[in-house]
Amino acid sequence: MIELIKSRRSIREFTQEEVSEDLIEKIIEAGKWAPSGLNNQPWRFLIIRKQDKIEEISKYTKYKKTVNSAKVLIIVFLDKGSSYNYIKDVQAIGACIQNMLLFIHELGLGACWIGEILNQSEELNRYLRVKDNLELMAVLVIGHPVKKERKSSRRDIQDLVIGWG
Ligand SMILES: Cc1cc2nc3c(=O)[nH]c(=O)nc-3n(C[C@H](O)[C@H](O)[C@H](O)COP(=O)(O)O)c2cc1C
Repeated sequence: MIELIKSRRSIREFTQEEVSEDLIEKIIEAGKWAPSGLNNQPWRFLIIRKQDKIEEISKYTKYKKTVNSAKVLIIVFLDKGSSYNYIKDVQAIGACIQNMLLFIHELGLGACWIGEILNQSEELNRYLRVKDNLELMAVLVIGHPVKKERKSSRRDIQDLVIGWG
């Protein structure tokens, strides 16, 4: 598990290889098993596979190239109708997204969490014609990773732990 967690990288370039519907369902399955406050499961997913739609959605972020390269988008929303506490619901959606990212990595696929697109939430929601009770949380871009070395780093534990009781 720790190896999986540490070796996951954000992938921003994908090959032309398709991602099957079966795999997409398995990824959603990993997401839906995340914990949520009162088990309210506030996440909703919109899956986009048509290339022309992906291209249209890419226009709503400055990470256009990354979005365009993807074979699948999983657009994650918070269902305000199931919400009972905004902070906890957003935290649960973070857990859901991380479950999916880790499972995508386990499958040998790659993904990147696109948050910048939230700057154009209203416009994107209008394009997608989603109901008013759905708040855009993130777009996950998914595909088969172009093979290359990807490095990342994290701060030292000493910088992060503020005390031991
Ligand atoms: C809330 C959130 C928003 C992010 N938004 C973007 C984004 O808009 N574009 C992008 O290329 N990467 C985005 N990322 C990916 C981060 O840049 C990446 O996770 C970070 O640089 C660490 O790299 P790693 O995921 O390879 O370990 C986002 C990640 C998170 C958690």
